[in-house]
Amino acid sequence: MINKSIDVYTLIRPEIEKLKKVGIETANLDCRILLSKSQDKDKVVYNHEKIDISENEIKKFQSLVEQRLSGKPVSRIINKRNFWKQEFKLNEETLDPRPDSETLINSVLEHYKNKSKSFKILDLGSGSGCLGLSLLEEYKNSEVTFFDISKKSLDIVKINASNFGVLDRSKFINLDWSVEEWDLNLIKIENEIKFDVVISNPPYIPTEHIKTLQTEVKNYDPFIALNGGNDGLDSYRILIPKLKNVVKKNGKVFFEIGKGQENFISSKAKEHKMLPIEYKKDLSGVNRVLVFIVK
Ligand SMILES: C[S@@+](CC[C@H](N)C(=O)[O-])C[C@H]1O[C@@H](n2cnc3c(N)ncnc32)[C@H](O)[C@@H]1O
Repeated sequence: MINKSIDVYTLIRPEIEKLKKVGIETANLDCRILLSKSQDKDKVVYNHEKIDISENEIKKFQSLVEQRLSGKPVSRIINKRNFWKQEFKLNEETLDPRPDSETLINSVLEHYKNKSKSFKILDLGSGSGCLGLSLLEEYKNSEVTFFDISKKSLDIVKINASNFGVLDRSKFINLDWSVEEWDLNLIKIENEIKFDVVISNPPYIPTEHIKTLQTEVKNYDPFIALNGGNDGLDSYRILIPKLKNVVKKNGKVFFEIGKGQENFISSKAKEHKMLPIEYKKDLSGVNRVLVFIVK
């Protein structure tokens, strides 16, 4: 039932003040997104728009603001996040996609300029599917295998793939790369056909460092998506020695990495006949993506 017609800013102003008091700089945008969510609107309302709203919707809006006040990120409240060119659904077992990870998409685009070619791509540790699905959007004749230890995250990739109309070019594999022979099991499922391209943003935060991260990250991103072991490098130690078994000769591997991890990862790769060919920086100037050729 519609109770009143009101200007958005008048309605959200007291809630903006509450969020600002606890240091949330995006208070205005957050409130407008949460107000839109409380009315099941896909488009975000504007400050000076007049809307019709019921008492129930106002209560729902206020309860969403309470969640935000407790430190829950907006993307976790609405279970959605924009990445590259699309809106991705999330759940509690998917990492919240980061803008820095778009560096990896840019890097693939620079290395593979012919978008109409057909590439067989592996997304190792796919989370919401943001990396692999963004590549399917760019390369319309390519296929991606999404690989993750979390079955629930693969369920979300399936939903995202279906929403984007690319289900027929997607494959979902629920394996754990810390189990010996994950590489051989994967290639068996792939009928012994290796990949042209591997992309991966594996967990790379040192375990002890996780508790020092912002509440938004440490309380809401899955621990398994963050935890890279004592020095943050465990995933690379496990993955690199196996890559030659799953990547074609002269195929390329694109790794997202943490700050300062490039030297270790490059020398590990060289030990395993992979040639580092590029370090790519993110928007803050940190080396974020390493590219290797498999020899
Ligand atoms: C940093 S997240 C990246 C998610 C997504 N690719 C992105 O960029 O937003 C790492 C992913 O690796 C997966 N993962 C962690 N350990 C794994 C393992 N042992 N085997 C397979 N996947 C694993 C996690 O479930 C998580 O989805």
